[in-house]
Amino acid sequence: MSIKPSHITQRPRRLRRTATLRRMVRETTLSVDDLIYPMFVMEGAEQKVEITSMPGCYRYSLDLLLKEIAEVSSLGINAIALFPVIPEYKKDDTGTESYNPKGLVPQTIEAIKQAVPEIVVITDVALDPFTTHGHDGLIDENGTILNDQTVEVLVKMALAQAAAGADFVAPSDMMDGRVGAIRQALDAEGYSNVGILAYSAKYASAYYGPFRDALDSAPKFGDKKTYQMDIANAREALKEVQLDIAEGADIVMVKPALAYLDIIQQIRRTTQLPIAAYNVSGEYAMIKAAAQMGWIDEKQMILESLTSIKRAGADLILTYFAKEVALIKKYEV
Ligand code: PBG
Repeated sequence: MSIKPSHITQRPRRLRRTATLRRMVRETTLSVDDLIYPMFVMEGAEQKVEITSMPGCYRYSLDLLLKEIAEVSSLGINAIALFPVIPEYKKDDTGTESYNPKGLVPQTIEAIKQAVPEIVVITDVALDPFTTHGHDGLIDENGTILNDQTVEVLVKMALAQAAAGADFVAPSDMMDGRVGAIRQALDAEGYSNVGILAYSAKYASAYYGPFRDALDSAPKFGDKKTYQMDIANAREALKEVQLDIAEGADIVMVKPALAYLDIIQQIRRTTQLPIAAYNVSGEYAMIKAAAQMGWIDEKQMILESLTSIKRAGADLILTYFAKEVALIKKYEV
């Protein structure tokens, strides 16, 4: 027997009839409050250099970075994640520049805290921008990444950033035990207010390509698969998150975001901590490239992508689209 339309008791379309109704029953909202804006700082003055594979993203010298931060702060963005572009001559095998208290990152943090004190400054703790070989750790003569020796350097780096005024340090290196070591050192040195945003489930992903162009940090040999996670693993992400929480992380992160929404959702079920997701450079570049070709509706695709990351369970999103979203929200009625 066929069901006649008049016998339908549930008509889900009723709730989709008008824009007002749709807003009333909308389950997920994307707010500028959720967004963290990754920004690139370089040496020099009056420099603003577009990153070829990330149209609309720039490497800024400090003077212009401060102006840009003041602008994004006035648009309602609460936090930035800072990444340094280090000139080749300051790189070495062990990344010593990474913990120079007068280096580019500490200098930049201090200047931001003077100029725009309300913005939350999150700094990257990893060696790859500072090493000649482009890996996130120290290496032995066979090219093996040394875990515990690397953690010692990461601790020094985190302390230099905390001393300069960072609000959060964000270890993105995936060495074992680094969250606990950094937490202990921060507490011992009187920085118990400095938080840790842990890149807990960071996958060995092809989606980081454009970022490595931005920093000139692509590994000179091999890949990052002995420290970043296998793209095929989900349970291992839960293990990494558990460990980072036990070691003192304040916020846990999944990276990349869009190909790992299932991971975000599973972590959501296991922790009460805020979850961040990194909408990485490759995810940004794909949308920009398709938009440049005229193949997609860029604005709708940005909002759809970021909303789905929230729907999966993320509280915070690191995204190169942060400023664009803030502008969209500002002019949206
Ligand atoms: C490295 C680091 C990477 C990103 C952030 N920190 C790249 C990598 O692991 O090689 C990628 C961010 C992005 O692609 O947007 N410590």
